[in-house]
Amino acid sequence: MSEIPCILGLDVSTTASKAVCIDAEGNLLGQAAHEHEQSSPYPLWSEQDPDAWWHAMCKSIQVVLELPSVDINAVKAIGVTGQMHGLVLLDSHGKILRPAMLWNDGRAGSQCEMIRERIGLERLVAITGNDAFAGFTAPKLLWVRDHEPGCYAKIAQILLPKDYIRWKLTGVYAADRAGAGGTLLLDLSTRTWAIDLLEALDIPESWFPPTHEGTESTGAINRVCASETGLLEGTPVYAGGGDQAAQAVGVGAIHPETWAVTLGTSGVVFAPSSQPRIEPLGRAHAFPHAIPGIWHMMGVMLSAAGSLQWYRDTLARQISYEQLLSESSEVEAGSEGLYFLPYLTGERTPHADPLLRGSFIGLTARHHRGHLTRAVLEGVAYGLRDNLQLLYEAGLPAPERILISGGGAKSNLWRQILADIMGHSLSVVEVTEGAAIGAALLAGTGVGVWNSIQEACNVTISVHEQSIPGEAAETYADLHKKFKDLYPRLKAFYHS
Ligand code: XUL
Repeated sequence: MSEIPCILGLDVSTTASKAVCIDAEGNLLGQAAHEHEQSSPYPLWSEQDPDAWWHAMCKSIQVVLELPSVDINAVKAIGVTGQMHGLVLLDSHGKILRPAMLWNDGRAGSQCEMIRERIGLERLVAITGNDAFAGFTAPKLLWVRDHEPGCYAKIAQILLPKDYIRWKLTGVYAADRAGAGGTLLLDLSTRTWAIDLLEALDIPESWFPPTHEGTESTGAINRVCASETGLLEGTPVYAGGGDQAAQAVGVGAIHPETWAVTLGTSGVVFAPSSQPRIEPLGRAHAFPHAIPGIWHMMGVMLSAAGSLQWYRDTLARQISYEQLLSESSEVEAGSEGLYFLPYLTGERTPHADPLLRGSFIGLTARHHRGHLTRAVLEGVAYGLRDNLQLLYEAGLPAPERILISGGGAKSNLWRQILADIMGHSLSVVEVTEGAAIGAALLAGTGVGVWNSIQEACNVTISVHEQSIPGEAAETYADLHKKFKDLYPRLKAFYHS
């Protein structure tokens, strides 16, 4: 039997349910992922079946536990993380009432208007730290009230995706505070449900589970789960955090001077703070961090690496990513006047606009595939720069360093374009499944494997190369001004 304790991290992401196992020395002992479908039956809708998450998660846990490197008896704790903002509705018997409505679902635009009117934007931002965004949980819940009253009448419990998995693991309804912030129903300062807001919106508080800091235990593996997954009954399950906060822990963005950029399906600029900070108009997100006593602000673009994936799947399915990136490396900065607007699923920050659309702008007969690919890489980078600026505009001091991770960060070219366009060095953290690792670090700290999150990060995280802004930075600063001009010009068109 291994003498080194190990911890499992579970991540119910948009694409797959993932399990990782690390030991106290920071070694990755195993990982597995099983995919699940996402459906968009109507424009703006984005849904998944919570049961599909659980089946995929069971398989991933089983695969990891069967690895020779993993000793089930050494598993001391489990941490959970997952896609944020998703709305899972259960009746009083725990039956799923409708498909989960995801973070990138844009149908609740008019419910956002209603919330702003009823509460007042200033008060909403003062309480929650945020404006109402269509993908957040509360507007989607009100959409169900408006459009599916039969379903609404049966609601007994509301969970976020990760907390649905937690419930399947433990039989306990509980939420982490970082994730709860993304419902738009949490009081940012007290890190507890905003009772006044719930009352003003006429939403029963009893539908929401108790909230916990990321390092707190929320229950233990129950008998049913043990037989479904092979986990040992009684293993404690820790609160963990929404995937962005967990990812930040997994890469080491745990102090105000270290920010993180994630280039995954969504694109995120994440800034920890030692007190609750807000952007007065709520244009940037402000949530509790998964670490007790720490908060964070962040900008989130909905289609980052997701834009490149869409581009390849739709226009260049038979071409590898390597070839596409290599073709685009031949093209000069600026793609000869071609711009890509990465708003394929509307946008969250800095433009809270679910009706915004993606576009290629400025095509000429001279452009070939390399230009199109490069324009996609640049368009996503301009969007991330917009979010970096938004955090500066919110009054946050510039960070000492920015860490970058996520699938898209593996490309040297894309990283260099990002460093040039964002005007900041980017240090690469080589972490596979950063959110799941972050959840494991939170659980490991909670169970006492490490004395602090800082110690957990020191053991597990190493920073590799750096991409430093180069000659193209000046060119891009000009081109970014033109990019910024496109949204106000095109808004009326998309809204029509
Ligand atoms: C964060 C957000 C996304 C999802 C993706 O606010 O909506 O990053 O969490 O998993």
